Amino acid sequence: MKKIPNQIAMDGTAASGKTTVGKIIAGKLGYLFFDTGIMYRVAAYGANQKLHDVSDEAKVGEVVTAMDISLENDEASGTTNVLLDGQNITGLLHIPEVDKIVSTVAAIPAVRTAMTAQQRRIGLQGHVVMVGRDIGTVVMPDAELKIYLVASPETRAKRRYLENLSKHIESETYEMILADIIKRDKDDSERTVAPLKPADDAVIIQTDDITAEEVAQKILDLME
Ligand code: DC
Repeated sequence: MKKIPNQIAMDGTAASGKTTVGKIIAGKLGYLFFDTGIMYRVAAYGANQKLHDVSDEAKVGEVVTAMDISLENDEASGTTNVLLDGQNITGLLHIPEVDKIVSTVAAIPAVRTAMTAQQRRIGLQGHVVMVGRDIGTVVMPDAELKIYLVASPETRAKRRYLENLSKHIESETYEMILADIIKRDKDDSERTVAPLKPADDAVIIQTDDITAEEVAQKILDLME
């Protein structure tokens, strides 16, 4: 008989496939898929809009804590829109400007405190696949299943480059994306609060040479 975990925590580096794989698993199980990276992206986008510079930790913390962030289901397209102070910013969260500053904003303790509290509330409702960098270690340390996805920086840069092309984002070359991914890995792993790392009890899956469907199947097999 299958034992389906109530909470599934999925962490990994930038563009390791967490979102694609997490969505497949959540869809198969009928669970909520929750991408915590989006929250840090909203924080980064909003702080940059308001301050034009995210180097002052105290100011960024203040601005982010006061933000009015809400989610709205778009019934027609079946997607979820992110609203910041009432403005739909869904299409602006993966632009290169946000990619460049999001790790800096995500390393600010006040920002993490605000985001982690909201993520824990969602996690406690159960039947959730939550993806990020610190889900198995900090946000849902009691999750019954913890996954950590890894792939080489080159594989991940290629994936992000092709994804950008499919969205008609052509402002960044493969080399620029690769450099950004390497920098973000370093920043995310070396920060003091909730650094990127696998939980001691996480299952580590290499995703370089397998498709997202195959990764998802491996994870579903773990529930046997
Ligand atoms: O997964 P992503 O690339 O959309 O994440 C964007 C940034 O947010 C990434 O640089 C690290 C940060 N992040 C984090 O620190 N903790 C999380 N739980 C999720 C994302």
